[in-house]
Amino acid sequence: MTLIPITLTINGDLTQVAVHASQTLLEVLRYELRLIGTKQGCDKGDCGACTVLLDGEPVLGCLTLALSCAGRSVTTVESIPRADPLLESFDCHGAGQCGFCTPGMLMTAKGLLAKEKKPSRDSIRAAISGNLCRCTGYGPIVEAIAAVGEGTVQPATEEKLPPPLPSYGAPRK
Ligand code: FES
Ligand code: FES
Repeated sequence: MTLIPITLTINGDLTQVAVHASQTLLEVLRYELRLIGTKQGCDKGDCGACTVLLDGEPVLGCLTLALSCAGRSVTTVESIPRADPLLESFDCHGAGQCGFCTPGMLMTAKGLLAKEKKPSRDSIRAAISGNLCRCTGYGPIVEAIAAVGEGTVQPATEEKLPPPLPSYGAPRK
């Protein structure tokens, strides 16, 4: 299969990668670039686990062709700093249990909070309506996002910060 070189910005870094015409953004992120924070759930647009931001808008990585991202800006869960209030709020509200939906939820929340500084709970529910969670019942997730907008999240202390993400080595050739 022919590989097509593309350049895109990923988490602020200009990145070159060769992709197949049929490869999805999710596949390129996880299997070519080793950015495995973005989860592969249903792989058909149903679960939202693969949500990333494309030019600031939440998109499903499993339904987005990598080729269509050439010259554009992709933001993944790896871009979120360890001390980000959204992470602390998810922690404080028990908004993550098994954690499989969490990267997609976080990126959907980031997209919403970039547009609406203080989203209503209805607005939050609408934003995350495409992100499925089988563990939490959604209430803690809605409250966690609302608390960031309301500015009621206490900053995390150093000992409470999550560990840095591990490195998974160089991208596949
Ligand atoms: S993996 Fe993309 S929507 Fe489920
Ligand atoms: S925390 Fe398990 S699916 Fe959401």
